[in-house]
Amino acid sequence: MEKNMQMNDFENMIDIESKILSTSRDPHQYNGEVFENESIVASTQHQKRFYLESYGCQMNFADSEVVASILQAQGYGATKEPAEADLILLNTCSIREKAELTVRKRLTEFKKIKKNNPGLLIGMLGCMAERLKTKLLEEEKLVDLVVGPDAYRTLPDLISEAEDGQKAVNVFLSRDETYADIAPVRLNSNGITAFVSIMRGCNNMCSFCVVPFTRGRERSRDADSIIAECQELYDTGYKEVTLLGQNVDSYYWNNPETGHNITFAQLLERVALISPVLRIRFSTSHPKDITDDVLHIMAKYENICKYIHLPLQSGSTRVLQLMNRTYTREWYLAKVKRIKEIMPDCSISADIITGFCTETEEDHQDTMDIMWQCRYDYSYMFMYSERPGTLAAKRFTDDIPHDVKRRRLQEIVAIQNKLSFENYSQDIGKTYKVLIEGNSKRSAADWMGRNSQNKVVVFPKGDFSYTSGDYVMVLVHECTQGTLLGTIMN
Ligand code: 5AD
Ligand code: SF4
Repeated sequence: MEKNMQMNDFENMIDIESKILSTSRDPHQYNGEVFENESIVASTQHQKRFYLESYGCQMNFADSEVVASILQAQGYGATKEPAEADLILLNTCSIREKAELTVRKRLTEFKKIKKNNPGLLIGMLGCMAERLKTKLLEEEKLVDLVVGPDAYRTLPDLISEAEDGQKAVNVFLSRDETYADIAPVRLNSNGITAFVSIMRGCNNMCSFCVVPFTRGRERSRDADSIIAECQELYDTGYKEVTLLGQNVDSYYWNNPETGHNITFAQLLERVALISPVLRIRFSTSHPKDITDDVLHIMAKYENICKYIHLPLQSGSTRVLQLMNRTYTREWYLAKVKRIKEIMPDCSISADIITGFCTETEEDHQDTMDIMWQCRYDYSYMFMYSERPGTLAAKRFTDDIPHDVKRRRLQEIVAIQNKLSFENYSQDIGKTYKVLIEGNSKRSAADWMGRNSQNKVVVFPKGDFSYTSGDYVMVLVHECTQGTLLGTIMN
């Protein structure tokens, strides 16, 4: 375990953060999702089986879909049972210490399986593989393969090496890998919504963040391959695509054949033009980079969802400066105002960190105050977790006691809960166009879908013969903190 964190601190942290995650129904966090896709479920035609779990962000999940595609091309079928697998892969996250500890704990659960099946290979993919490199092999004897996010094309060779009894590692970070030509195998898909990766890496160097070190330099994917993937999704019945990147607003691609440049706003427009019934979402935006052009394109097309995830991190200009966020409190507030001017019905969510180095009670008050001003529909809130190698770890002391971080986190969670409930209550009496994603979790008699603002809407199926992928008009008559409840109006 890193640093001198006590185990009970860690348990507390998991406890409070997972509670927050579950109330905020975080679409950005995967915690051991197992693949599911009938088309690649192992059968007698497959010689080998893989078992794949994803942790971390949507980008990681999208990467797992690329990995599944590469393995499928090698004749691998997928299994949901680790005990049946020839290859177990964990696609890992390093964003907070908790994320890494969760994976390490999970790894120990495979010990017994490996004992029963000595030929079994275990691979660590993703950000933790990139951060720890060969150290991971030294620390985790169970691991045979260590593969960074830009090295998935070499998986077949690495697997062969490992089958020959050698430990196999590739953590090379590329300047141009975007996996543009690999058709991802859709995992855990409802057949309605899908992720499309449009860029990789990050050049921002926020001082708290490990991503620039684990995912390398920013690079944009060929726009034509993005459009082709979205078109293909639409042609096969998908109704919503989420364009993914660590910082989508700095998407910029130069077509080498025509010399033509394409910005994120232009890309959004091209995707929006595929069909008016294909919804478009995107994540994540950086407040310093989201332009008026993007906001105007969002306003112009009904099928571009009116929802922006706009990480705040802190409401204090002094802390923002230490975080190297390159904007001030006033800049952020002006951006929110601009979004609301151009799209009054646009929903905004945020990421917020409590207890960053040197954060005072006054800084914390600034964060709480800005939350009230921005009135987020939801927020993803975290205690600061120092990551080795980051600018903050090198330059500053992680000096806010755990109890203080935790108390501040509880305070901002309480504010967000109030804001969510107030905002959702204001939707009562309104009618929304909802894309049906499937049965509600609670009852097969109810549908679950989302409105353009990304709010979950649950409503009885009634006597209508709608199905997943249909749009319906729903009148909201009740809400909880995270769900709108309504009835079909058509
Ligand atoms: N500690 C806590 N939270 C972090 N995040 C990123 N790095 C850290 C860290 N070291 C949060 C930020 C980011 C979100 C994906 O995770 O809020 O926007
Ligand atoms: Fe995603 Fe960041 Fe976690 Fe990597 S470290 S999986 S980029 S959230």
